[in-house]
Amino acid sequence: MADGAAYRQATQEIVNYAKEKRIDMVVGPEARGFIVGCPVAYELGVGFAPVRKKGKLPREVIEAEYQKEYGVDILTMHKDAIQPGQRVLICDDLLATGGTIAATIELVEKLGGVVVGCAFLIELMDLHGRDKIEGYDIITLMEY
Ligand code: PRP
Repeated sequence: MADGAAYRQATQEIVNYAKEKRIDMVVGPEARGFIVGCPVAYELGVGFAPVRKKGKLPREVIEAEYQKEYGVDILTMHKDAIQPGQRVLICDDLLATGGTIAATIELVEKLGGVVVGCAFLIELMDLHGRDKIEGYDIITLMEY
């Protein structure tokens, strides 16, 4: 993100991945999902809906629990962030254990959204995060 050319290239690669998917909304989890997802939404000409840790969003929310390294945390989304049937692309910087993306998918689906793609800059292969979201379409730009 500090390297303008790399940030732009990464954004463009995700936009290319998403182009044929007829995306209605981009969703990104706090906080780095905003940095990855917002420029993608801008390029696609669609809206962006934030997923935030509990207690941050001002209006009525829905919640999903997920496992962190030490204990459980809660992610939230505004109840009206996604309309039923909307096609959603989820963006984040990192796929590690997969807890964050699994909870984000749960939130989108609770609102009736259809997750048609998940895009990450980095995947940590040894943590097998993919196993938690089997069957979903995923792109990761770098693997470690
Ligand atoms: C990091 C990262 C991803 C998540 C990936 O966020 O930005 O969202 O962890 O890990 P997982 O696949 O094991 O769930 P973090 O929870 O540290 O929040 P932050 O971006 O607000 O610092």
